[in-house]
Amino acid sequence: MPLETAVIAAQPAGFATPLLAIGVGRGPLPASLAALDRDGGGALDRLFTAGDFSGKKDETALVYPPGAAARVLLVGLGKVDEISRAGIRRAASTAAKRARTIGVERAAFHLAPEALGSVAPADAGQAIAEGLAQGAWQFSEMKRAPDDKEKKPALERVDVLAPADTEAVGAGHRVGAAVGAGQSLARGIQVLPGNVCTPSFVAHAAEELAGRHGFGVTVLDKAAIGREQMGALLAVAQGSAEEPRFIVLEYKGAEGAPVVLIGKGVTFDTGGISIKPAQNMEDMKYDMSGAAAVLGTFEMLGRLKPPVHVVGLIPSTENMPSGTAVKPGDVVTSLSGKTIEVINTDAEGRLILCDALTYAQRFEPACVLDIATLTGAIVVALGHMASGVMGTDDQLIEDLRTAGERAGERVWPLPLWDEYRELMKSDIADVKNAGGRPAGSISAGWFLREFVDGFPWAHLDIAGTAYTDREDAARVKGPTGVGVRLFSEFVLSRQGSGTR
Ligand code: BES
Ligand code: MN
Ligand code: ZN
Repeated sequence: MPLETAVIAAQPAGFATPLLAIGVGRGPLPASLAALDRDGGGALDRLFTAGDFSGKKDETALVYPPGAAARVLLVGLGKVDEISRAGIRRAASTAAKRARTIGVERAAFHLAPEALGSVAPADAGQAIAEGLAQGAWQFSEMKRAPDDKEKKPALERVDVLAPADTEAVGAGHRVGAAVGAGQSLARGIQVLPGNVCTPSFVAHAAEELAGRHGFGVTVLDKAAIGREQMGALLAVAQGSAEEPRFIVLEYKGAEGAPVVLIGKGVTFDTGGISIKPAQNMEDMKYDMSGAAAVLGTFEMLGRLKPPVHVVGLIPSTENMPSGTAVKPGDVVTSLSGKTIEVINTDAEGRLILCDALTYAQRFEPACVLDIATLTGAIVVALGHMASGVMGTDDQLIEDLRTAGERAGERVWPLPLWDEYRELMKSDIADVKNAGGRPAGSISAGWFLREFVDGFPWAHLDIAGTAYTDREDAARVKGPTGVGVRLFSEFVLSRQGSGTR
């Protein structure tokens, strides 16, 4: 059950709820909370004056004052002049996560107006909705159901209390709730193990989404992929008992050239014949996180119905070793006609993406963005704080950086200078698929660039950001749904701008 959230004009004082979470900045008890604290017998003020709580970033205090709310949770946002969308999103996430662990079905969230900083009310409404979805997310479907007496009810609804600027907060919330639902959908697909989330499962998820929202969907099975002559995708798929799929989604909320989003959908990456070590190999179920980001973005589009034109392309396959698997040294012919020497069967992502890049041409795109857990090297370069971005168009890269900053999903550029192209030259084919350890993310980018023809293009490497093993007050470990907020911000900022 996805979390339901709604903006209402109510004041926090007198609002009956099992849990009232309030975001506050650094300093004494905000004046706007005086009425609430009067009902509570001054408990909140005593908390501040005793020095037990000061609103520092990520600080929380759970109190049980008398009054309409059974519990009050204060969440610190830090210094007011430094409060950003990211901080508000984080506070809302902290509140939802705490509500979930306490085990309340309903809760309320209120951002003290003093803690708005320089953030516009609509942006705050969006960040709150995104944060609530973020913190409330959990995945327990594969665990045995707990006994009734141990069972905690799930958090079903959070009311966002906005007595001031209700309309602006509500408008932002509408966007944030759609983005949050998209991100939750992405996480719910990412988290599934490789024996459940197969290429045909990804295709069914796309069909379900398309059916529910009424967009166009086409799924190519192995035979159809063969007829299309996607030789690179087929080469990766040939070692697997699971059939590949090539998925095309189209949301047409406006005329004009589409934004094409391509997501890597490797449902499990063993490395193939160039097999990976066993340590952490289970994480390779997340190798379809790019595909999940595209599906999550379409969930947002389906909910918001903005006037934009977006096409989603998902090449999906497993990467398995077997007697029929592609071997190092094999030469395959891609959809573009270019031949590829497969140096390393573990560099499979670029093989399936290159055919999608060629396929994208037929849409005469305004731009093409691909998103992929592509290289371990990007984790070495940027760690887990940012996704890598490369491309052919400086403005596009700049737009993505801006979108990422606003969305709280940072991207950072790496250069695709001509000199790096050398790394991908093959002795016997047009290009090879692996260029060795130096500049591993850039050489992958250059490989993809060889297949970009006739449109502005950018590539996002999310190998370091797609999942996390860090759990904290605001964050749930596991899949992050990265890319959904970034793509949503990017796509929505193009509303009405037509083609570029
Ligand atoms: N799916 C991996 C990249 C990856 C690594 C994702 C770590 C998430 C965490 C990709 O298919 C891969 O194996 N890349 C190779 C490329 C190399 C063989 C040129 C890599 O990064 O080692
Ligand atoms: Mn691989
Ligand atoms: Zn991979």
